[in-house]
Amino acid sequence: MKTLFSGIQPSGIPTLGNYIGALKQFVDIQEDYDCYFCIVDQHAITVPQDRLKLRQQTRQLAAIYLAAGLNPEKITLFIQSEVPAHVQAGWMLTTISSIGELERMTQFKDKAQKQNDGIPAGLLTYPPLMAADIILYNTDIVPVGDDQKQHIELTRNLVDRFNSRYNDILTKPEIKMPKVGGRIMSLQDPTKKMSKSDDNQKNFISLLDEPHIAAKKIKSAVTDSDGQVKYDKENKPGISNLLTIYSSLTNASIDTLETRYANEGYGKFKGDLAEIVANFLTDFQAKYNEFYQSERLDDILDEGREKAHRTSYKTLKKMEKAMGLGRKRK
Ligand code: TYM
Repeated sequence: MKTLFSGIQPSGIPTLGNYIGALKQFVDIQEDYDCYFCIVDQHAITVPQDRLKLRQQTRQLAAIYLAAGLNPEKITLFIQSEVPAHVQAGWMLTTISSIGELERMTQFKDKAQKQNDGIPAGLLTYPPLMAADIILYNTDIVPVGDDQKQHIELTRNLVDRFNSRYNDILTKPEIKMPKVGGRIMSLQDPTKKMSKSDDNQKNFISLLDEPHIAAKKIKSAVTDSDGQVKYDKENKPGISNLLTIYSSLTNASIDTLETRYANEGYGKFKGDLAEIVANFLTDFQAKYNEFYQSERLDDILDEGREKAHRTSYKTLKKMEKAMGLGRKRK
C-alpha cells in the first residue's frame, strides 16, 4: 500500500476552506493509502502564538480531523512536536536549501510582510521542515489545497538534491489537489484566499462557527450585481466561490447547479447554500464535541505518536548516516 501524508497548522480553527481543500479529500481517499495526518504545531510557531490558545487549538484540530470522518482505527494521527525526528530531519534539509529559493516562496513573502517586529527566521526555513514532515514517512502522495503547491515542488527538489548528493534514500512525493475547491476564497473579498488566521471574522467560516452565524456570513457574502448564478472565476469571483462551496458540500456538479438556479436570483441561491452550510456544521459539531471531550482522543494521539515515531526514526537514521552525522564505531 502506498503512503499518504498531510498536515494542518493549529494556528486557528480550521475553516470551510481547509475542510473542502484538505479534510474532505483526506476522508475520501483514506482507505486507499497508509495515511499519516499531522497537527503541525511547530509550523504554527513560525509566527507568534498565545501558548494557551495554541495548546487548545491543537486538541481542537485533533477532534476536527476525526469529526471530518477519518477512521482512527486505520489512519495515524499525531502531533508534530511529539515526534522529534521532524525538526531533526528539518535541520538536515535546511542545510541543503538555499536562502534564495526559500525567499522565493510566496507564502514566505506574504507572511513576512505582515510581521512588525522583524521577520522570524523560522518563516524562511518553514519549507524544509515541511519537506521533512513528508519524506520521513516515505510518502508517495500529499493531498493539499492550491496554496501548498510551491512548497511541494520545493520538497521534490530537495529530495532530488539529497538523493544525488548523499544516498538515494528519500521517496519523491506527488502532490494531489482536489478537482473542485483547491482554493476557497474569502467571503467578503473573493479575490483573496479564505484563511483561518484572517482578522476579519466575516471573511471565513470556521468549522466551529455557530451554524446560524455561518448562515448569515453566506447570505452576506460579496457577489456582483448581474444576478446570474454562473461560474466565471474572472468576472464573478464571489458567485463562483459560493458555487464551489455548494458543489463540494453536496457533490452536485457546478453545471447541475447552474441549471438548477438558472431562473432564480442570488437570494434563493444564497438562502439554500446558507441552509446547507448550517446543516453541515450542526452535524459536524456534534461529532466534534464528542471527540473533543473524550479520553479516547488522547489514546488516539498517543498511539499515533508511537507509530509515527517508529516510522520516522528509521528514515532519520538513514539520513544521518548518509550525511555523516554521529560517530564511527570501533
Ligand atoms: P494550512 O494549515 O494553512 O492548511 C491546511 C490545508 O488546507 C488547505 N487550505 C485550503 N484549501 C482550499 N481553500 C482554502 N482557502 C484553503 N486554505 C488552506 C491547505 O492547502 C492545506 O492543504 N504548510 C501547510 C501545513 C503542512 C503540511 C505539511 C501540509 C506542514 N507540513 C506536510 C502537507 C504536508 C499549511 O500551512 O497548511
